This record gives sequence, structure tokens and C-alpha cells, in this order.
Amino acid sequence: MNAVDELRERLGQVLDPELGASIVELGMVGDVAIDEGGHAVVHVALTTSGCPLRAQIERDVREAALSIESVKSVELAMGVMDPAAKAALMQRARTIAQTRAPLTTIPYQTPVLMIASGKGGVGKSSVTANLAVALAQQGHAVGVLDADIWGFSLSRLLGIEGEVKARDGKMQPIEREFGEGSIKLLSMGLLADEDQALLWRGLIVQKAVAQFIEDADWSGIQYLLIDTPPGTGDIAMTLARLLPQMGQIVVTTPTRAAQRVAARAADFARKSNIRVLGVIENMSPLRCSCGETHALFGEGGGHELSNELGVPLLCEIPLGHEIAAGGDSGEPAVLLEGEHGTFTTLARKIVRDVAPPAGAQGCTARMLDSLERAVENSQPS
Ligand SMILES: Nc1ncnc2c1ncn2[C@@H]1O[C@H](COP(=O)(O)OP(=O)(O)O)[C@@H](O)[C@H]1O
Ligand SMILES: [Mg+2]
Repeated sequence: MNAVDELRERLGQVLDPELGASIVELGMVGDVAIDEGGHAVVHVALTTSGCPLRAQIERDVREAALSIESVKSVELAMGVMDPAAKAALMQRARTIAQTRAPLTTIPYQTPVLMIASGKGGVGKSSVTANLAVALAQQGHAVGVLDADIWGFSLSRLLGIEGEVKARDGKMQPIEREFGEGSIKLLSMGLLADEDQALLWRGLIVQKAVAQFIEDADWSGIQYLLIDTPPGTGDIAMTLARLLPQMGQIVVTTPTRAAQRVAARAADFARKSNIRVLGVIENMSPLRCSCGETHALFGEGGGHELSNELGVPLLCEIPLGHEIAAGGDSGEPAVLLEGEHGTFTTLARKIVRDVAPPAGAQGCTARMLDSLERAVENSQPS
């Protein structure tokens, strides 16, 4: 395959974030060229120039192009579709939506955030639990999937107990209300005794994760957070296949060693076409009330990693006994923090900048409706 064909193929994996279809399929990609020096030029036509998803589409196209060995630099020529092209896109989007049966109860527009690190003990599960509660407190219906099949911990961390039952052939996650919102959880912890040894092997683990997505009733959620075990290559791929909108948030501690391992996890994500949305530094230096700073796990790793990956550092979570204590009691630390607390601020940032809930974004999907109405109105009766 020559480089241009390869580039088109990679671009075929870039999805319009709202329509859930490939930008190539939708007819948004125009001319594509690569010169001898490895400089690629890609023409992309958006439905509207002020598209709020433009930055994401640009970033994904750039990443897809740079993932090809021979491409050294990328130039994006962004254009806007004329009404005829928009109408054609609308038609294609409808056909795609109709012919593609959903694999899950999770609509494509629902943001899915996978919390990953490459290494255990950096605080992925604590971050997942506290972020989920913060999002719920801000009024969202949050799904939490504990994909750590062996080392499940979310039922304990979130204080959610019960036995998962099936209704209409689908597992029903167990729900707990937090403030204005709620959390729906699925975890091995709700299926098996916490002490029970699980004799599960790699393949079965992947199957279990797939079942938690395909055979579960996640309807009604506005966010899905997925906590992962360390070294999650295979599971990440299973998840990405079922939930192509999934983005990854990388958790690291400030130390250099943890940062290297986290960088590998991010690298793997990119190779599997999973977007990396940001970095969270956990176990950051503790600022004691006596005025001293204790950097037990070093300093600056989160900043360095986010620079290296070219993604935002979403927050720095200092070491604090509240997190561990909250985990033991099933009352996550976020419940005790104020409006300006770490997790509350992080949740606001996620909603505003990183992954707005469905309906709050809107360029293509919402536009399709208004376009359709305009087209209907313009039809001679
Ligand atoms: N910021 C923090 N301050 C203090 N303890 C923390 C912090 N984050 C996590 N912990 C503790 O560290 C341990 C490992 O955290 P956990 O969330 O289970 O990590 P992972 O899921 O990455 O293995 C837990 O005992 C947890 O309570
Ligand atoms: Mg964990």
C-alpha cells in the first residue's frame, strides 16, 4: 500500500465525535497528499466553521497522519461544506446510523473516560471513585465500570453493595445517589465475594469486560468512567472496539519512574487509536499546615508527562489521609471537600473542557436536525 492509501485508511478511523461515523465515510475528507519530504496535506471540510469539535477533529487527523512512518509533518486545510455537501453528509449519516446496530446501550455521544496508568498503586481507582462522585454531585448520571476484574475495588470505594440481577437479559448495575446525581456501578465485587479467589485467565477477563459493556443496561447514564487494572493493553483494545468514543486519562505519581510507565500506557493508547485526553498527577507534594512541603513521591512528573504527550495536566492531587480513609469507609474524600476542592474542580473541568456531556457540544448532530427541517421546509408542497 502506498503512503497516501495508508493515510486514507488511517483517516478512516477518525470519527466525527458526534455522529460516530468516520470522517472519510461521511465525506468530510477531500484531497490528501504526501510530498517526498514526508509533508502531508489533508483537506477536511467541516459542517460549520465554528464547530466546537473542530479542535478534536484537527487533533485526531494530525495524530492519524503522524502515526504513519513516512509522514514527518502535517498541514490541515480546513474548509466548510456548502449546503449541497451538508445535505449529502446528512443523508450518509442517517444511512450509517440506521445500518449500524448498536453493540451497547451506551449512545455514541456519551463520553467514556478510561482511567489508566500502566502501573498499580498510583491511585487510579481512588481517582475514578472520587471523580465519579464529583460528577454525580454536579447533577450527572454516572456509570462506573470496574474493569479491574482481579483487583476490583470500586464497590468498596464507593460504598455500593448489592447483588447484580438481570432484567430482560441485561445485567442491572447497582445504583447509589450522590447529591443531585447518581452512580451506577458494575464490578466483579458485586458478583463475587471480595475474598473469593478468581480463577480467571486472560481471555476470560477480556470476555468479562466485554460482557459488562454488551450485556449490561447502562441506559440513562451521561458519563461512563472505566477503572482499569495496570498493564491494560488487551482490555483497552476490547473496550475501544465496543466504545469507539472512549478517551484515556493517564494517572501518574510525580516520580520519574511512574511517569515513564505512564508514558508507555499513553503511547500504547495512541497506537490503538485511543485518544489521550489529559494527565492527572496523584500523590503530589503535601503542603502541611506548618508551612512545609513534603514531596514524598518527588515533584513535577505530571507536568513533564503532559508536556511530553501534548495534553493538558488536568489536576494535581496532593497526598492526604482523607483519600485512603474515604476508601476504607466507602464515603469518598470528595464528599468532605468544598466547592473548590480538588475533585470538584476536576469534574467541572471535565464537563467544561475535556468531555462535555451529550447535547452540550453540538455542531453536527444538532445541526443535522435543523438542516433536515430546513430541507423539509424548502420542499415544494
Ligand atoms: N492522594 C493520595 N493520598 C494518599 N493516599 C492515596 C492517594 N491516592 C491513593 N491513595 C492510596 O493509595 C493506595 C493505592 O490507590 P489505588 O486507588 O488503589 O491505586 P490503583 O488503583 O492505581 O492501584 C490506596 O490505599 C489509596 O487509598
Ligand atoms: Mg485499582
